[in-house]
Amino acid sequence: MKRVVSGIKPSGDLTLGNYLGAMKRWAESQNKDKDSENFFFIANLHAITVKQDPEQLKKRTLDVVAWLLTVGVDPNKSVIFIQSMIPAHSEICWILNNYVTMGELGKMTQFKDKSLKSGKEGQFVGLYDYPVLMAGDVLLYDADEIPVGVDQVQHVELCRIIAQRFNNTHGETFKLPKATLSDKTAKIMSLNDPSKKMSKSDTEDSFIGLDDTPEKIIRKFKRAVTDSDNLIRYGKDKPAISNLLVILSEFKEKSIPELEKEYENAGYGQFKKDIGEIVAGNLDKLQKTFREVRKDEERLNNIISEGNRKAGTLADEKVSIVKNKLGLI
Ligand code: TYM
Repeated sequence: MKRVVSGIKPSGDLTLGNYLGAMKRWAESQNKDKDSENFFFIANLHAITVKQDPEQLKKRTLDVVAWLLTVGVDPNKSVIFIQSMIPAHSEICWILNNYVTMGELGKMTQFKDKSLKSGKEGQFVGLYDYPVLMAGDVLLYDADEIPVGVDQVQHVELCRIIAQRFNNTHGETFKLPKATLSDKTAKIMSLNDPSKKMSKSDTEDSFIGLDDTPEKIIRKFKRAVTDSDNLIRYGKDKPAISNLLVILSEFKEKSIPELEKEYENAGYGQFKKDIGEIVAGNLDKLQKTFREVRKDEERLNNIISEGNRKAGTLADEKVSIVKNKLGLI
């Protein structure tokens, strides 16, 4: 039995990057791997490392649950839960803080980027401690695999270091998880700068939001930057076109070589128009499903309660083992 655990923050618009790099893969892995146990959660404690409006945060937490159901995460096959509703997450974080150094946390790329942007006054400890909370999220459940995008790999590596250090001191307690990446979609790039990952915190034109209107999606793809020659080919020397090919391949369910062949004689204009239309059409369908799913809050809350119950039982067991080892009564 293999255990798969991953989380997503409810902080702002979900992007095509979240969808292709994580959410869609969670649904696929749950269906492919019949004997895996899957835990997918809304990382709202991570979300508050950046200031949030309380009402919005509440609403978005349910939005993300509804999006997970929309893209096919099935509550009969996967446990869906809310991080803040399981106190063990906060508890284990405090304990694990004693197994990580300030030097290790200071080296995290995400912390360096975000703290640079927020300036000295905005460098709160929560942002610094973010990876420890994340380590606890997966160590609580003896996770084997963590399906994430490339940007989270460094955090999973630190999680392994923390777990190993704890095990060395107190004996085998935590399983060492590994990050699993999809070969093509683990880093969906920005539409106006293919050297950066697509991110909701970037400019509006650089990302596709899952709730963007069809017109907006078509326009954003039309404006997407391209590479210097006019060939529709995948390769290191063609980062912009490669990114667009990956996106098209996911939505058309065709391989990249097939698409290269199909667009052999086409220009960038046609190519980008086609991508815009197919992504817009697909997201429009998903948005309709989302609106239906989101309406039924009673169902959403039932799914969450059931998920919290299942996850909470395991998490509490783990915390009590850990406390026992440490002499915490
Ligand atoms: P978050 O909310 O930023 O993103 C959720 C997932 O989406 C992936 N992702 C991408 N993948 C490919 N291309 C992109 N452009 C792109 N943008 C985002 C992220 O890699 C992630 O897998 N720290 C996590 C949440 C978290 C977590 C955890 C994940 C909290 N605890 C424990 C795994 C295990 C985060 O910020 O995700």
